[in-house]
Amino acid sequence: MDMHIALVPGDGIGPEIVREAVRVLDRTAEIYGHRIEYSEVDAGGVSIDKYGVPLRKEALEECLSSDAVLLGAVGGPKWDGVPGDKRPEKALLGLRSGLGLYTNMRPAVIYPELSDASPLKSEIIASGIDILILRELTGGIYFGERGRSEDGESAYDTMSYSKAEIRRIALKAFESARLREGHVTLVDKANVLESSRLWRETVSEMGKSYPDVTLDYMYVDNASMQLVRNPSQFDVILTENMFGDILSDEASMITGSIGMLPSASLGDGTRGMYEPIHGSAPDIAGKNVANPTATILSVAMMLRYSFSLEKEARAIENAVKSAISDGVRTADIAKKGEDHVGTDECGSEILRRLV
Ligand code: IPM
Ligand code: MG
Repeated sequence: MDMHIALVPGDGIGPEIVREAVRVLDRTAEIYGHRIEYSEVDAGGVSIDKYGVPLRKEALEECLSSDAVLLGAVGGPKWDGVPGDKRPEKALLGLRSGLGLYTNMRPAVIYPELSDASPLKSEIIASGIDILILRELTGGIYFGERGRSEDGESAYDTMSYSKAEIRRIALKAFESARLREGHVTLVDKANVLESSRLWRETVSEMGKSYPDVTLDYMYVDNASMQLVRNPSQFDVILTENMFGDILSDEASMITGSIGMLPSASLGDGTRGMYEPIHGSAPDIAGKNVANPTATILSVAMMLRYSFSLEKEARAIENAVKSAISDGVRTADIAKKGEDHVGTDECGSEILRRLV
């Protein structure tokens, strides 16, 4: 297969983790006989420094003309003083909406070998954590009308959703649940918010067409509590943009493996954007200590969702699992006093386990 991939390394540790992911991708392509053409795209702080804006039209166009986008991370304290609409994060939001990526998939899984790193008690995680968060990504309060009053004394942001926006992601939730445990939990705040009531109505209506999927509902405050009380009760969590932002950080943290978790953002077609869940970690940038695994696993998601290359995706996931069970650890997941490897060595260890 011929693939055209846009690389957006971004800021902080972005370039070093993307480099390792590309090495793994190249080796996979070599083993399975695929051809990849890359184009490098500047976005985030690096683009602010070069061009004065977080995302140029040309950068978005390059991504639009690719089959998939691999992103490292954007942002850092260096750009803290930049006004709201020019911040590095704007690049992410611009890419998400510009590429029409309304479904954000964030798996939170626990690796048995790393379960010590979970901040939860062992009896709570005894039955495992395997949650797929489906976060709506191009609507809600992130993209609603916002502003300040003329006197600057008040400000507002609006959360609004249409049934069409809810339906298209709910469909993905039901379909994903069918391939998993068959259980969708819609997380909302329907006891207070009108937009949440629209989510409930729309999703429960659709649920009738999925009698094989168990659908339940949870208020977001309760969901954040249930995630630490009994995370094993969840299979697929479906939620709006900001609730998903918050819950996905919580869900990834309780696995203890935030450096290991990938994500995929998808729209109607097969083009998607893939990135690790963690941020740009400016404090460790350029030191060869960052964990590249989440980005490497993002490449596996890319092969699966944008190219339907399941075998190749599994090959990468298996190589990661085997490196973990052989004790390969970057500093973030090593126990105190345990030997650990650098970013590039971690990449090499995964790469040489690819078959
Ligand atoms: C995320 C991040 C972004 C978000 C920020 C950087 C804009 O927190 O991807 O979860 O809020 O969506
Ligand atoms: Mg977030």
